[in-house]
Amino acid sequence: MIRAIYPGSFDPVTLGHLDIIQRASRSVDELIVGVLNNGGKTPLFTIDERVSMLKEVTEGLLNVKVLSFSGLLVDFARQTEATVVVRGLRAISDFEYELQMAQTNHKLNPQVDTMFMATSLDYSYLSSTIVKEVAFFQGDIREFVPEAIVGRIQEKVKAALQ
Ligand code: PNS
Repeated sequence: MIRAIYPGSFDPVTLGHLDIIQRASRSVDELIVGVLNNGGKTPLFTIDERVSMLKEVTEGLLNVKVLSFSGLLVDFARQTEATVVVRGLRAISDFEYELQMAQTNHKLNPQVDTMFMATSLDYSYLSSTIVKEVAFFQGDIREFVPEAIVGRIQEKVKAALQ
């Protein structure tokens, strides 16, 4: 039984994230999408909003669960008895930081291994930051995020601009 965690900030979830969730969920028995709730960065969306958007867009994926976590990822892995961390790699620029995180996590908890998935070519340019940037300038984000959450992002950005 392989239980994996796909961790991230998901501020907001993009089509690139959803693509990794769909593909990773086919390779493991259970995939937990772990939404980070650490104090450091100030996200646009609250933790409840991010979890709720992820739950909505992963509704049809029966072996996918969405949970929030705070603190260290390896502690969350211990609590949930997950042994694999899944991360998407978009470009070589992601690699250095991702390798450092994977190695640190493995040092902190040798039970945990990170598996990288190459992002689909269609989404290799995409990030939550880019989505927010386009949305703040009233650009069309329909190519970037699941259709079900387009309205929520537009409303959030509108409220933030008021
Ligand atoms: O979507 P992101 O912001 O690239 O995800 C980063 C995330 C959540 C995977 C990473 O910041 C994380 O795991 N944070 C929890 C604290 C931790 O365990 N840090 C790793 C030690 S190197």
